[in-house]
Amino acid sequence: MTILQNISLKPYNTFGIDVTAKQFATFTSVEELKELISNSKFKTQNSKLILGGGSNILFTKDFDGIILKNELKGIELVHQDEEYFYIKAAAGENWHSFVLHCLNHNYAGIENLSLIPGTVGASPMQNIGAYGIEIKDIFYQLEALHITTQTVQTFNIEDCGFGYRTSVFKTKLKNEFIILNVTYKLRKKAVLNTSYGAIEKELEAMHIAEPNIQSVADAVIRIRSSKLPDPARIGNAGSFFKNPVISKFRRHAIAERFKDLPSFVIDDMHYKIAAGWLIEKCGFKGFRKGDAGCHKDQALVLVNYGHAKGSEIFDLSETIISAVKKEFGIELEREVNIY
Ligand code: EPU
Repeated sequence: MTILQNISLKPYNTFGIDVTAKQFATFTSVEELKELISNSKFKTQNSKLILGGGSNILFTKDFDGIILKNELKGIELVHQDEEYFYIKAAAGENWHSFVLHCLNHNYAGIENLSLIPGTVGASPMQNIGAYGIEIKDIFYQLEALHITTQTVQTFNIEDCGFGYRTSVFKTKLKNEFIILNVTYKLRKKAVLNTSYGAIEKELEAMHIAEPNIQSVADAVIRIRSSKLPDPARIGNAGSFFKNPVISKFRRHAIAERFKDLPSFVIDDMHYKIAAGWLIEKCGFKGFRKGDAGCHKDQALVLVNYGHAKGSEIFDLSETIISAVKKEFGIELEREVNIY
């Protein structure tokens, strides 16, 4: 177990922001993790952060505390019944590698979540989702270490408080637990979800009439690669803001002005609307100031073209929030965690 001092975080966040952490350590086993959190260097720090793939975080300054990077690895089939395979994956596994593992073994239900950056441990944290599927749809249970008591606790779906891009680990239990592993419940017989318009269109373009999990995954990969920047080339953290939920009255007022407003029914009174569309309408799509920008193909994604400071990206997000508020009376909420 080594605790390093003043380490650059540039390789550890997909925005590629060059800040330092006062202290930094990695753990590859639960024993190593327990040793780390028992250490006085950990206990005496006020600021503590457990890092996965660093794909949903924006550092706006040097981190004046200790960061522990989760590198727990391993994937196993722990159980099966007539309908499902139960697959347990360690929190430090790369998410997309895990999806590929499932595709190779014909475990169905995860295909729509292909190519999402980040780790397995982060997936329940913010209930990741794309193309009509969220983690909560395939989640079985997870194990997490309680930091103060050092006990391992099991969380079933009802304990996780999953919502749109949120869970108890982001809200009322924030910083209390470290997720160790997640068990997913994947189907033996695929039930494909191609209802998200873009998937159907892409399958058509690929001339696939009878899709399977591999072709749906391929379609998702093609769509994502066509409009979401690859963090290995242009720093970003996926969607920077959440899609806002507004009343049907406000939606009606906006739709009167703009016939092309993309919106989805939530319930009798509410609609979710596309934040990317709002941002584009305010003129920010493709906007760039210094090295901080708003992506040219998907306005919901803020990007670092090279040497942007985290604070510059944060300032751009503030400018966007104000503009959308002024134009539409809607307050955008950030999805990315700010440190
Ligand atoms: N749109 C625009 N302009 C833009 C961007 C989008 O008009 O610049 C319109 C699109 O034309 C479409 C609608 O907005 O009609 C929705 O766009 P898209 O399908 O790209 O999805 P999104 O709502 O912008 C969400 C997730 C993504 C996820 C996609 C696909 C959130 C915050 N984001 O984006 O998740 O991949 O749906 O399911 O819910 C992420 O969370 O990091 C992420 C990338």
